[in-house]
Amino acid sequence: MNETNHSKERKTENELVTTQPIGPFTMNQIKTSSFKPLTMANTILKIPLLSTIITSTALKSSFNSSSSSLLHRHICNCSSAASVSQHQQRQPQIRSPQLVALEYADLSIPHIVCEELGVVRVRQHVNPLSSSLSVPVEVPKWEDVFEDPKLPLVVDIGCGSGRFLMWLAKRNPGSKNYMGLEIRKKLVTRAEKWAEELALSNIHFLFANASISFKQLISTYPGPLMFVSILCPDPHFKKRHHKRRILQKPLAEAIVDGLMPGGQVFIQSDVLEVAVDMRKYFDAESDKLVHVDNIDSSLLCDNEGWLATNPMGIRTEREIHAEFEGAKIYRRMYQKPS
Ligand SMILES: C[S@@+](CC[C@H](N)C(=O)[O-])C[C@H]1O[C@@H](n2cnc3c(N)ncnc32)[C@H](O)[C@@H]1O
Repeated sequence: MNETNHSKERKTENELVTTQPIGPFTMNQIKTSSFKPLTMANTILKIPLLSTIITSTALKSSFNSSSSSLLHRHICNCSSAASVSQHQQRQPQIRSPQLVALEYADLSIPHIVCEELGVVRVRQHVNPLSSSLSVPVEVPKWEDVFEDPKLPLVVDIGCGSGRFLMWLAKRNPGSKNYMGLEIRKKLVTRAEKWAEELALSNIHFLFANASISFKQLISTYPGPLMFVSILCPDPHFKKRHHKRRILQKPLAEAIVDGLMPGGQVFIQSDVLEVAVDMRKYFDAESDKLVHVDNIDSSLLCDNEGWLATNPMGIRTEREIHAEFEGAKIYRRMYQKPS
């Protein structure tokens, strides 16, 4: 995927959807998750008007998340070839924001909140190296932001809209706290509003440059750090912009040092180059971290060591958009030995 496509695709992030969650983390939880990836097949067939267009067995059997672009074209061709009614032809094709809405439907983010905030428009790119974004965030009073600030902490770095983290937080009340770090303020403001409306007392979003503030935040948190994720980070394709990428050595070291025994770090990207770049930092910590397939043989990897499936029970928005476009997601999950 090139930079233009990636940027264009990211515009969909700001579209309004609703949400809901489960929880990852222990291998048992992962294995017993009822999560099934939302494929083009089950998604399209759940949408009545579209399902009237898609009737051929051959077409249905071609549904899968990795061939969605092809599928899109296929749907268009089949629609006209089958001489569907004018009414049917006027129906819009499914778009990836609709998939996001379906995947997060259980979260039920109230509409009113979104109307209050208006349309959240954010710049496509921010420069995390700019002086205005290099100021460390003020550490919150943890007892003010979490009902029980001693619970194990889950941190999502570059959390975007925050729906992914809210979904998890709703699934695990009273057992974990969730903190989203996001460098785009409007997304944080909206996420906080949503969390408030959903009455989640175990989640907090911070407008923060994670590269600058992660270590300090973690070192002051009263409980253990059990999980850190960096999911589909901004790719910053140009070589001269690689230094803007969120994961650099100091952040990787701070994550590894901060994790509790048994704690996990999960990284993923739809851009191979970015995934490889992130992976090298954690592979280099082989004296402190092991990849999860060495602990649990049911978590399979492909020949290059990427996890075969999403172990979280929910896909992030970027992940949904990317898979919709036919991209592969490159994932690694590491664990600190207990
Ligand atoms: C491509 S989006 C992915 C969002 C989400 N993780 C997902 O998978 O849908 C990357 C997010 O990381 C945020 N980000 C980039 N650099 C950051 C930094 N240094 N600190 C915190 N957030 C950052 C961006 O603002 C953006 O919302």
